[in-house]
Amino acid sequence: MGKMIIAGNWKMNKDLDEAVQLVEKLKKGFKNKNKVEVVICPSFTNLSSVNEIVKDSDIMLGAQNMYTEEKGAYTGEISASMLKSVGCKYVIVGHSERRQYFNETNSFLNKKVKVALENNLIPIYCVGETLEQRESGKVEKVIKEQIEDGLKGVSLEDLKKVVVAYEPVWAIGTGKTATPQQANDVHFFIRKLLKAMANEAVADYISILYGGSVTPESCRELMSKSDIDGALVGGASLKADSFAEIINY
Ligand code: PGA
Repeated sequence: MGKMIIAGNWKMNKDLDEAVQLVEKLKKGFKNKNKVEVVICPSFTNLSSVNEIVKDSDIMLGAQNMYTEEKGAYTGEISASMLKSVGCKYVIVGHSERRQYFNETNSFLNKKVKVALENNLIPIYCVGETLEQRESGKVEKVIKEQIEDGLKGVSLEDLKKVVVAYEPVWAIGTGKTATPQQANDVHFFIRKLLKAMANEAVADYISILYGGSVTPESCRELMSKSDIDGALVGGASLKADSFAEIINY
């Protein structure tokens, strides 16, 4: 069982004023009764301002994406060291929306995971099957490829730092949460894969988060499952009250 982490993925929401308001509200009423690691992931344009507000608090900052190269002629891209320079500790890598709309493949994401780690950023590496894949019995095949190819060649020492998020694509933004048992079964399978890639100690150390329509109502039962070490929250992280409730599940 890894450290409990509750991360908010704001996706492409909130302009600067709205982001500042949200994080100020979150910080003001901040209670963390379960002592989880709390992470928020605003869009690139809001990172620096949000960092000014959270830098002396127990709220950690993460980005939603990054590029594989360090610098140079890659118009529109953002490097790992740029993220570090605005206070990021985490970066989401391989969210299903990146895989789906921007054609990010497991081998490309493998490079991102390694570059993030080289720059002392903790990758939150996302995996998950589509509805079609689930209905045709391919969940384990898809997850195995995503885990093995995406984390290939990462040293044992670095693997320990990685956070994995299981986000079934059919549960993202749809209001359809995987049942706690469905989620835990896949988490257990992911941990088994990590054991085979590394060893039991490393696999047990890695936090495996669940994501997909997590709400204040659904989170407690999800969090009580043996292999679920936290949540990656989209929609419900856009309101301070609901995100605070999830943090204090
Ligand atoms: P959701 O998004 O909570 O809105 O379903 C989760 C995610 O995509 O990380």
